[in-house]
Amino acid sequence: AQSLAALGLRHGLQVGTAVDLAVLNDANDPQYRRLAASEFSSVTAENAMKWESLEPTRGVYDWAAADQLVEFARRNKQSVRGHVLVWHNQLPTWLTSGVADGSISKQELRELLRKHISTVVKRYKGKIWQWDVVNEAVSDPWDTPSTLHYKGFWAQNLGPGYIADAFRWARAADPRALLFYNDYNIEAFGSGNPADDKSQFVYDMVKGLRAQGVPIDGVGSQGHLGTQYGNYDTLQVTAALKKFGSLGVATAFTEVDVRSELPDPGDSAEINPRLQASAANFSVLMKACLAVRSCLSYTVWGFTDRHSWVPGWFSDPPQGMATIYDENYQPKRAYHELKSDLIFA
Ligand code: G3I
Repeated sequence: AQSLAALGLRHGLQVGTAVDLAVLNDANDPQYRRLAASEFSSVTAENAMKWESLEPTRGVYDWAAADQLVEFARRNKQSVRGHVLVWHNQLPTWLTSGVADGSISKQELRELLRKHISTVVKRYKGKIWQWDVVNEAVSDPWDTPSTLHYKGFWAQNLGPGYIADAFRWARAADPRALLFYNDYNIEAFGSGNPADDKSQFVYDMVKGLRAQGVPIDGVGSQGHLGTQYGNYDTLQVTAALKKFGSLGVATAFTEVDVRSELPDPGDSAEINPRLQASAANFSVLMKACLAVRSCLSYTVWGFTDRHSWVPGWFSDPPQGMATIYDENYQPKRAYHELKSDLIFA
């Protein structure tokens, strides 16, 4: 049978996964490495390229895990989505505590950011297809204040101008990498869901950046969905990708997973409703991506329920079953549905 990667390439679409480097290196878990290599044409480091992983001690970069991912991709002829240059989470403690206690000034912070972007992007120059330059810079309607705004460490300390700076610094370091803004809850516009306003906010932001000549090449829509929220509609998601694409940028689904509340009551019906709903959600995003020229890649945020960030993150109520293979590496309905989308597109 053909892999997701091979079927995607028929359409010029890369099908990717986030990769956990610790698991990739676990000799007792060989299936993980085998499937990561064979089923996907693109890989993203789930954590290994984040600032806290790369520079745990000030001035001392540890490239081991990130280098391994890039080497794994090279050996398997995969492209790499670089993730992530600027984010408010998973920053090294020396950085956040230095800012908190005043030992790192705002001016120094800006310079540290410039240096970080330049150092990381230069190291992998020519080896990264798409970089998530800025991640999750925009608030959600449930944040305070509820009016959408630029949120988090970077906006608070440097003001929103850091976004344009980050893209310029990244472009200077590797002129050929595609530079993405990446965020969640931007899968659709105007469906009546309050989170939709965030799509419009991001749209306006990207439009503004492009108008100022800021080198932004893409919008990454993460695609963290849940079966308890119902399904998006293919036309709605297609329209959203088109709308972002109309700004002259590429688009991509960058972190797709579809979680469910646990425990799963299971097979009371002939068809497990959670597995079915999960498959439907994975499929809506895939169909939309296939329908829109700007959509370059479809990446899942982990491919097996054996290793997924979801159960560790959502405990009240517990959630899981978020990926396309079960805990024993058996393909789930979502996997088959993605394949049929790719076959029949
Ligand atoms: O590395 C330590 C390990 O030494 C320790 O024993 C263990 C105990 O908890 O923690 C490990 O660190 C964890 C790290 O993942 C590596 O596994 C952190 O606690 C945990 O918080 C961290 O979670 C990651 C999360 O980002 C943190 O923000 C998830 O793996 C990762 O999937 C998730 O990814 C983000 C994207 O980058 C951006 N979009 C949202 C997405 C999901 O939250």
